[in-house]
Amino acid sequence: MLSRVARPTSCLLSRAFSTTLQTNSNVAVLGASGGIGQPLSLLLKMSPFVSRLNLYDIAHTPGVAADLSHISTKAQVKGFLGPEQLDDCLKGAEVVLIPAGVPRKPGMTRDDLFNTNASIVRDLVRACAKTCPKAMICVITNPVNSTVPIASEVMKEEGVYDPKRIFGVTTLDAVRASTFIAEAKDLHVKSVSLPIIGGHSGVTIVPLISQCTPPVSFPQDTREKLTVRIQNAGTEVVEAKAGAGSATLSMAYAAAKFAENLMEAMGGADNKVECAFVRSDVIDGVTYFANPLLLGENGVEQNLGAGKLIDYEKKLVDEAVGELKANIKKGEEFVTASKK
Ligand code: APR
Repeated sequence: MLSRVARPTSCLLSRAFSTTLQTNSNVAVLGASGGIGQPLSLLLKMSPFVSRLNLYDIAHTPGVAADLSHISTKAQVKGFLGPEQLDDCLKGAEVVLIPAGVPRKPGMTRDDLFNTNASIVRDLVRACAKTCPKAMICVITNPVNSTVPIASEVMKEEGVYDPKRIFGVTTLDAVRASTFIAEAKDLHVKSVSLPIIGGHSGVTIVPLISQCTPPVSFPQDTREKLTVRIQNAGTEVVEAKAGAGSATLSMAYAAAKFAENLMEAMGGADNKVECAFVRSDVIDGVTYFANPLLLGENGVEQNLGAGKLIDYEKKLVDEAVGELKANIKKGEEFVTASKK
């Protein structure tokens, strides 16, 4: 249950994210044995906001859960293996994080993952709709621009759709952007933050460097190089891993950061703002879009929109729109086609 209680006990995550309020959330990770799932589960096990941590996968969860369960922190960890244990895993879940699926290999775009990952997300979200329809669903599985519409369509089909409770986790784009800007300007990385709007792949990722805190300025060619680096940062990791997968550790950090802010907001903390890819009417004709969101007890409390953009950023949004619409349509059509 979520509740307002004392300030959190000292731990790495609470220090890293300067938290001020403790909650006791029931959390489920689906795909918990994977490259993202394991470090994400470790970070959640270290979080003062998690009281129950249920780990689901089609492989290895008994081992992962036994291992994590020996760590001397509050969260009670349990492993669930295979589809017959999925409903038990989801019973009572308030926050569900989904990194299940296959990762990219060099030369692949996130969209190339669609064929495998679309049905994985569809089936896992259908189980959430039946067992924990009020849970916050945080989709990590790529292509996020399509898997979030898939999650939404499934919830609609099951009659339990609440657009305020379905998030595509795009936090890693902001984490990367603040790291790169801090490096470029020799700033303390914790002091740097900026919104990343649009979607979560290639040109759909639109960093708003003009809205950076603290304000930073770059010559236009440097701004463009930085923008392209932020858009392609995932590919940097895919290439460096040379066939062994995509970003896992930084993705786990980013997802844990998002989940902690969400859990705090659910527990009543004020001013928790995160960017995420959600149902939207911020841009005409683009039905899902990422931008800053004020989080609250019921998920998205207020969509804060994109703010004021400079001309270069407006051009980036224009370039993103076509691909975003196509990605969204592909996700929605997949669910419609699955019905036939
Ligand atoms: N149900 C539950 N878990 C599943 C299912 C399923 N139907 N199918 C696969 N998995 C699990 C795998 O058993 C594995 O443990 O998902 C996990 C995926 O782990 P990895 O292959 O290591 O992939 P990872 O790097 O974690 O990325 C997973 O997240 O960011 C995205 O692009 C990334 O889509 C990819 C996903």
